[in-house]
Amino acid sequence: MDVADLVRPDVLSLEPLGGKVYSEVVKMDANENPYAWPQGMREELEGSLLQFNRYPDPNAGELKDAISEYSGVPADGILVGNGSDELIQMVLLTFGGEGKAVVVHPPTFGMYQAAARVTGTKALPVPLLNGLNLDVERILERAQAPEVSIIILCSPNNPTGTLFARADLLKIAAASGKIVVMDEAYAEFCGQSLVDEIANYPNLLVMRTFSKAFGLAGLRLGYLLGQAETISLINRVRQPYNVNSFSQKAGILALKYLDHYLEQIEALKRETEKIYRALTEIPVFKVYPTQSNFILFQPDDADVWHRELLERGFLVRHMGELPVLGKSLRLSPGLPEDNEAFIKAVWEIAMARKLVKLQAVR
Ligand SMILES: Cc1ncc(COP(=O)(O)O)c(C=O)c1O
Repeated sequence: MDVADLVRPDVLSLEPLGGKVYSEVVKMDANENPYAWPQGMREELEGSLLQFNRYPDPNAGELKDAISEYSGVPADGILVGNGSDELIQMVLLTFGGEGKAVVVHPPTFGMYQAAARVTGTKALPVPLLNGLNLDVERILERAQAPEVSIIILCSPNNPTGTLFARADLLKIAAASGKIVVMDEAYAEFCGQSLVDEIANYPNLLVMRTFSKAFGLAGLRLGYLLGQAETISLINRVRQPYNVNSFSQKAGILALKYLDHYLEQIEALKRETEKIYRALTEIPVFKVYPTQSNFILFQPDDADVWHRELLERGFLVRHMGELPVLGKSLRLSPGLPEDNEAFIKAVWEIAMARKLVKLQAVR
């Protein structure tokens, strides 16, 4: 018996996700927050008497109340997920599937297309203009196709770091007539959000995560904001206990310690800026301006740089061949001392590769 004969045909064409795990490296590859949780928060979390023999609150009531206070969206307009990855899949399960299509704007976050494949939804790419700018007219044009039910926008966009104009995003929400998912995973770093427009657009969903600014990537916690009716539709495809009790508690506490996180966010912005400036000093590098906590850049040879940096203990993300832009690397800052060491390593490699003159060395 060959079990492959029994599998859904479209599953056969999927590749399992997941990457290699490196130990003993400075992790700069996943846009995470490298700082430790605020002191009091760790203690409160460890000391909280959670009953792990019981199922979590299936409605995550207390967490939703905390998110409601933070975002200004009423609790019945909030859905929490096992990372925003799960929420992307839930949106596609609800509005996508066989015979439906989703518009995406590559280069962007890869999980949109991955979730489209898993749910049998067709992905319709509308590449960014010059690899960086939203092609609003083309997105609206493609969205007119009857099979399109969803448009996913990401701002600031991973991996380019570009913040799209609020007016353009709203134009798509207003004119498309489709579900518009606004992925704001990095909103805390740029200060722009469409959350305050949710009341005006029943088709608008804003997606956020605790993985980036709040440093909870390992606990898998994301949330979706929208009008109550839209959210209640997506809630139908949710697994009852999709967010575990420890993560629910961590999310509540993270928002309680918001002031500490705001300091970390400012520090991360400064560190990103410091690395950005250092990279732009290497003449052959093309470095893209960023509105987030990560930087996309193209060195003279991405493969060599990725390897050389790894040999020196720095893990950056090799983005492969990006649409329009080509082979690129992406990094997010580590702790300040690691970033200093990283910049030094960049100069050493650049010198060894004769990309900078000796006198240029700081
Ligand atoms: C744009 C974007 N959206 C969503 C995610 C996933 O976040 P989560 O950890 O909440 O699944 C990421 C993670 O890299 C991301 O860059």
